[in-house]
Amino acid sequence: MKKKILVVGSGGREHALAWRLSRDVPSPELFCAPGNAGTAAIARNLPFAATDIPAITAWCAENRPDLVVVGPEAPLCAGLADALSAAGVKVFGPCAAAARMEGSKTFAKEIMNAAGVPTARSAAFTSPAEARAALPSFGLPVVIKADGLAAGKGVIIAQTAREAEEAIDSMLVDNAFGKAGAEVLVEEFLEGEEASILALVDGERAVLLPSSQDHKRVGDGDTGPNTGGMGAYSPAPVVTPEMLPRIRDTVILPVVRELAKRGIVYKGVLYAGLMIGPKGVNVLEFNARFGDPETEAVLMRVEGDFAAALEACADGTLSEDLVKVSPEPAATVIVASKGYPGPYEKGKAISGLEDAAAVPGAVVFHCGTARDSAGGTVTAGGRVLSVSACGADLRQAVDRAYAAVGKISFDGAFHRSDIAHRAFGR
Ligand code: AMP
Ligand code: GLY
Repeated sequence: MKKKILVVGSGGREHALAWRLSRDVPSPELFCAPGNAGTAAIARNLPFAATDIPAITAWCAENRPDLVVVGPEAPLCAGLADALSAAGVKVFGPCAAAARMEGSKTFAKEIMNAAGVPTARSAAFTSPAEARAALPSFGLPVVIKADGLAAGKGVIIAQTAREAEEAIDSMLVDNAFGKAGAEVLVEEFLEGEEASILALVDGERAVLLPSSQDHKRVGDGDTGPNTGGMGAYSPAPVVTPEMLPRIRDTVILPVVRELAKRGIVYKGVLYAGLMIGPKGVNVLEFNARFGDPETEAVLMRVEGDFAAALEACADGTLSEDLVKVSPEPAATVIVASKGYPGPYEKGKAISGLEDAAAVPGAVVFHCGTARDSAGGTVTAGGRVLSVSACGADLRQAVDRAYAAVGKISFDGAFHRSDIAHRAFGR
């Protein structure tokens, strides 16, 4: 019997998850809620929002999937994994109490400090006067963070005391982030190079997927506003092979154990956003899910039975041999809509998808796309496509990804042209 697997979410990450699962042997019967035009080609899209916990739980109660894989943080923080587990459905993704590692930056700091995980010095405040009074002890620049989920916008790097005070007031006085900014962290600024580590966790054990690096700023040379990520590549050479077991033993596992001590079982992906620099390896943030666009690069390299690895996390039976990694590097270039990360138009016809997919080693993942009434593919988001490729070396992977990007066009399309520049600049 074919396995039945539901992937929850609608972005490039979820398309990559579904694509990777579709390559398992035998291939499972795949569903996506709600999915996009890309997942529609390999899975059946279900008309439920990723955060519609009652609808997803009811569908699972009726259709009994073997596994549900939850992509985004919002349903995890809202308790989708709890609801599915309670209904007897196997789920890959942490319960709400564990997802607070992403949902509350002050909680994540508390856990890191209790577990001795290296991270920037910080203090949490609800009083604007007390937060301002603490600023001098942090020097400049200083980082001001909203506690809760703020769609990637809740972190302000203040170059001057005045900017820091304005950031504190915007969160604590003017409620710019609503409830998410009702508490702020004032944090020491760390120098260095960032990297992402995605760890599969089964409540006790952890297996690290290959390292990667995101490109958060919208423009070449890391300029302009922050985005959800404009590209990624794997491996990130700033993470040396010797570092990986150390990151598992000093970052990932201490968090899993500290949570377990508090009665919280972490199952799913624990994503550590690291800063590697003069102060060693420090954690900037944890996420409770696969990164996007890191997943679109990393999963190009993950071999073996992927569903078995994810199920082992849910079952508490994870082992290293379940995850095999291809030595070929991978690169991902996001093609976005003009205006992103600000306002942008939707509904632009996309052409060249088949030619792009025909480039050797390339796979085009859809982020924000939809089918129009004529059956064509149109833009439906700021990040539209996640064009990935692997190659014999990173140069070939990047060249292939850009060759594929070159085949694609839609009105207002743009992309960064320097993905992996830090690796090439070494
Ligand atoms: P976060 O959501 O905590 O990862 O923050 C978003 C981005 O802000 C990170 O990817 C970093 O580029 C930057 N950032 C966050 N915290 C720090 C810090 N303590 N020092 C330097 N940069 C930081
Ligand atoms: N690419 C960063 C994230 O997924 O949070």
